[in-house]
Amino acid sequence: MGGKPSLSVVGLGKLGACSASCFAAKGFNVIGVDINRGFVDAINRGSAPVKEPRLQEMIDLSKGRLRATMDFEEAVKGSGITFLIVPTPSRSDGHFSDKYLKDALTHLAAAFGKSDKKYHIFVITSTVSPGTTERELVPLIESVSGRKLGRDFGVSYNPEFIALGSVITDFLNPDMVLIGGSSEQVCDELEKVYQAVCENKPYMAKMSVASAEVTKISLNSFVTMKISFANTLANICGQIPGTNIDHITKALGADKRVSPHYLKGGLSFGGPCFPRDNRAFAAFAKEYGVEASLATATDRINQVQTELLAELIAKQTPNGDRNVVGVLGLAYKPNTPVIEESPGIKLIERLLERNLEVIAYDPIATESARVHFEDRILYASSARDCFQSATICVLTTQCGEFKEIDQSYIAHDPTTIIDCWRLLDGSKFGKGVNYLALGSFNGGK
Ligand SMILES: NC(=O)c1ccc[n+]([C@@H]2O[C@H](COP(=O)([O-])OP(=O)(O)OC[C@H]3O[C@@H](n4cnc5c(N)ncnc54)[C@H](O)[C@@H]3O)[C@@H](O)[C@H]2O)c1
Repeated sequence: MGGKPSLSVVGLGKLGACSASCFAAKGFNVIGVDINRGFVDAINRGSAPVKEPRLQEMIDLSKGRLRATMDFEEAVKGSGITFLIVPTPSRSDGHFSDKYLKDALTHLAAAFGKSDKKYHIFVITSTVSPGTTERELVPLIESVSGRKLGRDFGVSYNPEFIALGSVITDFLNPDMVLIGGSSEQVCDELEKVYQAVCENKPYMAKMSVASAEVTKISLNSFVTMKISFANTLANICGQIPGTNIDHITKALGADKRVSPHYLKGGLSFGGPCFPRDNRAFAAFAKEYGVEASLATATDRINQVQTELLAELIAKQTPNGDRNVVGVLGLAYKPNTPVIEESPGIKLIERLLERNLEVIAYDPIATESARVHFEDRILYASSARDCFQSATICVLTTQCGEFKEIDQSYIAHDPTTIIDCWRLLDGSKFGKGVNYLALGSFNGGK
């Protein structure tokens, strides 16, 4: 392939829309494919199909190089490399479902089989259970297209390590690009694509497809283990006078063997990837006869963390007290409306089980929470509004807006603030405020 190959991206959701727009913004001609007409129309109108910071900026920069279609044939004919970024939801046994991947690949392989194209590269970006690509997906492409791996097409497993809310920045500046390839040439083709797209010079981790599948899932499992370790430390600090979780994790993180990232004791991890990737790691290890005890312990610690917070809140609401609990932060983290496996949402469920009244606020996730809870809770229009109704306010995400909370927000005497991420300076509040920072001794009151 001389020059920049044309690319196609199947699945224009939270990750796919961002990948497609970044490729196009960096000079590739990109055809997006989705079965959701609304998303296809949005891309063709030049608007972002999903909410994500900087996505619109990338679409604007792509200047006519990005278009979308519902026609798989058009995508295969018009591109040399197709990225598949469709959902792979968790099954009840912890493994990822490959149903959507197989649906999309069936259409793509049929189009490839009918075409007179000599070669095509299929890139699996969706998260899959290790073994899926070679065991399930390659045979599917071969049988539907009538073509042969190696001779007629190449396959790559190339997952992204992005976080919602910073997908574009993460995509353009990765620490590492993980490229599993069915051959060295496939890895090299993808390396060239990423060299043109990345704004930094990341480590290109080129390896076999099977190794890349294991790498993807073990990285997320390792990171969640780190988070659960920091949360355990925060719980310990809550019981020992004179300790400060942030001093401890800062020191631990300064050691190169540990690193400071994802090492801030606080609330449980959530979102669409971390919890399920970690459970999938345990499930796949078990399939191969290995007991992944670290992964199962990580998950257990994560479940308990929200329960402990609910207990702490309940201790602040003695029997018969008509307290309203304000939960500030409903998304699983700041800058996203996604509430999947969100600690704030899980906390509210625990509080409702205890018959506590809840008012909730999030700068952008309130509508998602409303769909989930309907009229079982109250909704505040601002953080200040939340303090007007609630006598106990819990800050569950590291949302920048919450850092502005000061004495002027306080509407009740007494008011309890539970600050899960230590965003506020407790000493700046008056006598009527009971400030509890998770991870420090007073949090265990
Ligand atoms: N969102 C993240 O933070 C993130 C991070 C890393 C990896 N991933 C992985 O990326 C994949 C996609 O995740 P997402 O969050 O973008 O999902 P999403 O649900 O936001 O988007 C998926 C898109 O695929 C489309 N789609 C479904 N079936 C299709 C088909 N047969 N043909 C064409 N389009 C189809 C849907 O209409 C939707 O627009 C998943 O495997 C996920 O695990 C996501």
